Amino acid sequence: MTVSDIPEVTAIENESFSTPWTEASFFSEINNPASICRVAMAGDSLIGYVCASCILDEGHILNLAVRPDYRRKGIGRMLALSILKELRSCGCKKIFLEVRASNTAAIRLYESTGFRMLGLMRGYYFLPKEDAVIMGLQLH
Ligand SMILES: CC(C)(COP(=O)(O)OP(=O)(O)OC[C@H]1O[C@@H](n2cnc3c(N)ncnc32)[C@H](O)[C@@H]1OP(=O)(O)O)[C@@H](O)C(=O)NCCC(=O)NCCS
Repeated sequence: MTVSDIPEVTAIENESFSTPWTEASFFSEINNPASICRVAMAGDSLIGYVCASCILDEGHILNLAVRPDYRRKGIGRMLALSILKELRSCGCKKIFLEVRASNTAAIRLYESTGFRMLGLMRGYYFLPKEDAVIMGLQLH
């Protein structure tokens, strides 16, 4: 992900989340040396993205979305698997993420890449207020 990708990324973000990251949030992640942000392209069109961080041996998937008209085509899984590969090569041994408890699509996607549910954070999200499911993956 580069600065010139941010308008397209933010457009997908706004269609995907009730409390979207702003352009400034993506700019800050791109410039954070502990973060890795990648985009998926179809020709010249940006169709998905993922942001993750790696601190010591712990990775965190911070954000992942696919453009609505490209969903259910394997793009989300491809983004998740490719960021897991990068996090592993950065030395991450365990990866965590949070997801809305009602977000079945994302929970299934993460389960299909090896994540398991570890617990709940009650009332973590707002608009609407909702629990977060904490998911984790041990890399070998
Ligand atoms: C979650 C999201 C990234 C999935 O992306 P995608 O490209 O559609 O996912 P894939 O096509 O790679 O699907 C991978 C698996 O996820 C699960 N899945 C994806 N969408 C699903 C849905 N709508 N309902 C149930 N399971 C779903 C399935 O297990 C699927 O495997 P299958 O197609 O073999 O059954 C996409 O729906 C999205 O951008 N949602 C809004 C943003 C979001 O919620 N991000 C996650 C925040 S943590």
